[in-house]
Amino acid sequence: MLGNFSYSNPTRLHFGKDALDALKSELAAFGPVVQLCYGGGSIKRNGIYDKVVAALAEAGKTVVEDAGVMPNPTVDKLREGARIARENNVDFILAVGGGSTIDYAKGVSVAAHFDGDAWETFYKQQQAPAPGARILPVGAVLTMVGTGSEMNGGSVITNHEEGLKIGKVFDERVMPRFAILNPEFTYTLPRYQMVAGFFDIMSHLMEQYFSNDDDNTSDYLNEGLMRSLVSATRIAVTEPENYEARSNIMWTATWALNTLLKCGKRQDWMVHMIGQAIGAQTNATHGMTLSAVSLAYYRHVLPYGERKFARFAEIVWGVRTEGKTQREVAEAGIDALEAWMKEIGVVMRASELGVTEAMLDAVADSTIIFDSGYHQLTREEVIDIVRKSL
Ligand code: NZQ
Ligand code: ZN
Repeated sequence: MLGNFSYSNPTRLHFGKDALDALKSELAAFGPVVQLCYGGGSIKRNGIYDKVVAALAEAGKTVVEDAGVMPNPTVDKLREGARIARENNVDFILAVGGGSTIDYAKGVSVAAHFDGDAWETFYKQQQAPAPGARILPVGAVLTMVGTGSEMNGGSVITNHEEGLKIGKVFDERVMPRFAILNPEFTYTLPRYQMVAGFFDIMSHLMEQYFSNDDDNTSDYLNEGLMRSLVSATRIAVTEPENYEARSNIMWTATWALNTLLKCGKRQDWMVHMIGQAIGAQTNATHGMTLSAVSLAYYRHVLPYGERKFARFAEIVWGVRTEGKTQREVAEAGIDALEAWMKEIGVVMRASELGVTEAMLDAVADSTIIFDSGYHQLTREEVIDIVRKSL
């Protein structure tokens, strides 16, 4: 392993059917006023809201409601949340929901007492909050599996007016202090969201896997997680309430993007960059923006990282190597990925998300291009990949 890195993760996890029991004692460490952030109402329908509010009451907290966090949270909602936090002298932010709600809570935590435009500074300019800046602590109760937001510093905000969807990876000060992970809380997810989350996990794993040529323990960990994910998702799509499968998927999602696997790696992230550009144009579900472009992207970059793609084929998908060239093995791996995607039922074409030929320039304009994978794309290649995905 040749890269340098520092590793530390401050988030305490509580996992399993009884995980919510830990909420009351976790809350004790923070001040009396809690901003309760949640989405469009799923937590009211499935009873999670009542359980969380009961724990907040038992902990003696004053609750400031902050509902209506939309999927792909917007900059306008972020500004509203920061105002709510300031005006109510909030001490702690509790996010109950999926990646959107948790990402939003992190944005509010840095924006609330920031004397400037948080979107401009933290997201567009990618600056870090100043040393000593007042950042409100965040906790999470996870209800949708996929993003890994429960144990990382990521926060993705969308500005529809500017046609931009930008992720900022904040440092430990912004990462959740704790996260409650009960796999049963995810049972009420609509199937579309459930499988979008499954693909998001796979994409996080692949983004970190397909870079570097050195022998790195992170890649072996990654392969184990990919194999667990493929196995458990095959069960979950036929038996959505199989606790064993759903719990393994939840645990895999957290490890897929909680700062461990990137250690010593350059990391690719181009599927996410193209997916986010599509998200900014269409507001489509995150995981589906990734599935729609992944096959065209990986088939395009495969020749530049053939050896790693062949390893992926053999270890993750069990592709037999006898009588095949390295290229044929590598290509069979992507074919196996495609078959699994069809099996779990993700969106296979960007046109299904509303992407049209007329949008290609706008998508390319808002795609941030990194040079950290096996091949640095040009703008024309981005257009070509999205066109092939239509
Ligand atoms: O809003 P409600 O009513 O709660 O409904 C949500 C929402 O419509 C629903 N839902 C969540 N839990 C449910 C449920 N419905 C029924 N039962 C439950 N238990 O699911 C819908 C989607 O939720 P959302 O939070 O938007 O999904 P996800 O977790 O996929 O988050 C997506 C956002 O996270 C960002 C994405 O870009 C996107 O903005 N990401 C964050 C990352 C990070 N923090 O590191 C990395 C990811 O790559 C990703 O970019
Ligand atoms: Zn993602």
